[in-house]
Amino acid sequence: MRSIHVGLLGLGQIGSGLYKLISRKSSFCERRYGVRFEISKILVKNLKKKRFPGLNSRLITSDANQILDDPSIDVIVELIGGILPAKKLIIEALRKGKDVITANKALLAEEGEEIFTLARKLDRQVFFEASVGGGIPVIKTLREGLSANRIDSILGIVNGTCNYILTQMSHGGMDFDAALRQAQEKGFAEADPSFDIDGIDSAHKMAVLARLAFEQPIPFREVYCEGIRHIAEQDITFAKDFGYCIKLLAIAKREKDGIEARIQPTLVPKDHILAKVDGSFNAILFDGDEVGEILLYGKGAGPEPTASAVMSDLIDWSKGIESKLPADGEKPLKIKSISTILSRYYLRFSVLDQPGALSKIAGVLGKHNVSISDVIQTERKSGTVVPLILLTHHVHEKDIREAIRIIDGMKTMIRAKSRLIRIEA
Ligand code: HSE
Repeated sequence: MRSIHVGLLGLGQIGSGLYKLISRKSSFCERRYGVRFEISKILVKNLKKKRFPGLNSRLITSDANQILDDPSIDVIVELIGGILPAKKLIIEALRKGKDVITANKALLAEEGEEIFTLARKLDRQVFFEASVGGGIPVIKTLREGLSANRIDSILGIVNGTCNYILTQMSHGGMDFDAALRQAQEKGFAEADPSFDIDGIDSAHKMAVLARLAFEQPIPFREVYCEGIRHIAEQDITFAKDFGYCIKLLAIAKREKDGIEARIQPTLVPKDHILAKVDGSFNAILFDGDEVGEILLYGKGAGPEPTASAVMSDLIDWSKGIESKLPADGEKPLKIKSISTILSRYYLRFSVLDQPGALSKIAGVLGKHNVSISDVIQTERKSGTVVPLILLTHHVHEKDIREAIRIIDGMKTMIRAKSRLIRIEA
């Protein structure tokens, strides 16, 4: 039986999940693949921390060199997350001749070019299936199953925490904070949950996916990123009245004049396939020039699904499968600024209900080329503040932003900051 010795960096939710998975699946891997995976050493920050039952505590060390300098260790699995010290350890591992498996979307999105360039130079492998979509084999699908395609667009629900929160707010009668707490208890959320709810985690994942799909570096700082903090229960209710639900979407499109890459809460028509993706589930919809649309759906967060993805990389590594980025495209496209995008919009104004209010708002929108497609205003006593909801036809973001700036300046009529949510149909 061939034994593969693994050096594990990090023993948090995912690291612990991998440890348990490797022991649970040991006879399965021996029978199916003829290999035995053995975790030889585990790097942790805090030696005193209480861990889970069944852990062989003799494997634990707080000295990275004991792992990186150990010639008997065949492959390094990095599950620390974040930029430092993960980046330094991965670079050292590659320099010391070890291949690396990582789930670190933040590192790959923000500093991936440096890591991939070094790996290429040293002829080493970096596997990263678990960095996007938890247990969904999304990287492998892009790399292998769709390898004959030019990918023109990616639409994804790639953050389980946000999808869980929005689903609970929409169907579960739960408020934002309670839903977030539940997501944290279930082990979906990032160590710092603002990474989830402010869209940063989704932006990291989108940058990794778009890098592979569009065959060019995607500078993370140029991915437009808007989270779900400002989504109110009333927006979810009004969206329903118009026939939409609200999802945090990761959107990347290859256009003739550049690449669109954005994370945004989005009104999605109720009959759209992504509208049916609820709870902590993730789904990624690719549009390939040969295959057309293809949807991958599954658990996008949590220790077991994510450890399943890490383990698939370990198995691939044991089979000698390579994990290289495709050659870059001929001429990199620029990442388009959000102000240049064309979209439909949902607008919510908090208006003092008085004669002429609607016509004043419509007038400003009209002057800025914003064409209205639908309106709701609930009946209240005249003279009170009411929500006025408008949906628009396609319009340039910079035009609608300017119109809203002017409308929000009408202080005698507008009583709170107006809300804008894009519609993807
Ligand atoms: N915090 C992430 C999520 C975990 O909620 O999807 C997986 O990356």
